[in-house]
Amino acid sequence: MSTALVTGATAGIGLAFCRELAERGHDLVLVARDRARLENVSDELSATYKVGAEILAADLSDRAQVQRVADRLADATRPVDLLVNNAGFGMSHSFLGGDLADEERMLDVLCRAVLVLSRAAALPMRARGHGAVVSSVAGFAPMGTYAAAKAWCTAFTEVLAAELVGSGVTATALCPGFTHTELHARADLDMSRLPDFLWLEADRLVRDCLDDVSAGKVVSVPGAQYKLLVAALQVLPRGLVRRASGTVASVRRRHG
Ligand SMILES: NC(=O)c1ccc[n+]([C@@H]2O[C@H](COP(=O)([O-])OP(=O)(O)OC[C@H]3O[C@@H](n4cnc5c(N)ncnc54)[C@H](OP(=O)(O)O)[C@@H]3O)[C@@H](O)[C@H]2O)c1
Repeated sequence: MSTALVTGATAGIGLAFCRELAERGHDLVLVARDRARLENVSDELSATYKVGAEILAADLSDRAQVQRVADRLADATRPVDLLVNNAGFGMSHSFLGGDLADEERMLDVLCRAVLVLSRAAALPMRARGHGAVVSSVAGFAPMGTYAAAKAWCTAFTEVLAAELVGSGVTATALCPGFTHTELHARADLDMSRLPDFLWLEADRLVRDCLDDVSAGKVVSVPGAQYKLLVAALQVLPRGLVRRASGTVASVRRRHG
């Protein structure tokens, strides 16, 4: 039986990953900040799927706590075969309208933690000749520092995947569109105007993503509507994409 470590394991997409991976027989290491919620998820997974579900409470905006997770990934006596870099959060304010400390915290969780944990996981995976790293990202349109951080994450995953070619280890950037989770409410984002067809369900997108991981895909875009959108964003003139993103962001802030 193999082991998967999932960050942001207590809600939304991360919780859907944990349930799907447990159903497929993987033991789990669950990472998030809220210990009580981690314990509830651990109890649910071990009772429902009869798998091991270890808890590692850590705030990934804190360097020392990221290092504890990295040390767990590097522990040769308890190998981790799949790392899901999923923890994240959104923000409702613009870059210039917000607090710099919040922006730095966002980069620490969405970028620095992904960088440190991916290296800690990929080195022993490469030595063993198998394993996979997945990062949950969204960042094709320039909307806020969130999108900029996520664009870094996609580029980083592509670099990692290229470095791992032939090693038996894969890296996949999961690029979901809007998904029903706690993220938008936590960030105080008003999503009431988003049309229904743009919403994804976490369970389905996780299954699609894991199929893409098995197929060794580097970029996984779940949902036909988003495959089309991403293809369009890549061929449309960048100036047009920037103008459209700016309009959407300002409308969202006015109503948010
Ligand atoms: N929902 C969407 O529409 C959407 C679209 C594209 C990409 N994504 C990405 O998907 C990922 C998961 O988002 P979600 O929508 O599932 O969000 P969510 O429902 O709000 O869940 C976020 C998870 O991350 C954990 N977390 C947040 N901050 C953390 C920190 N500093 N350290 C450790 N854990 C932390 C939370 O637990 P604690 O609060 O207990 O720490 C929770 O388990 C994120 O990277 C997000 O950017 C989401």
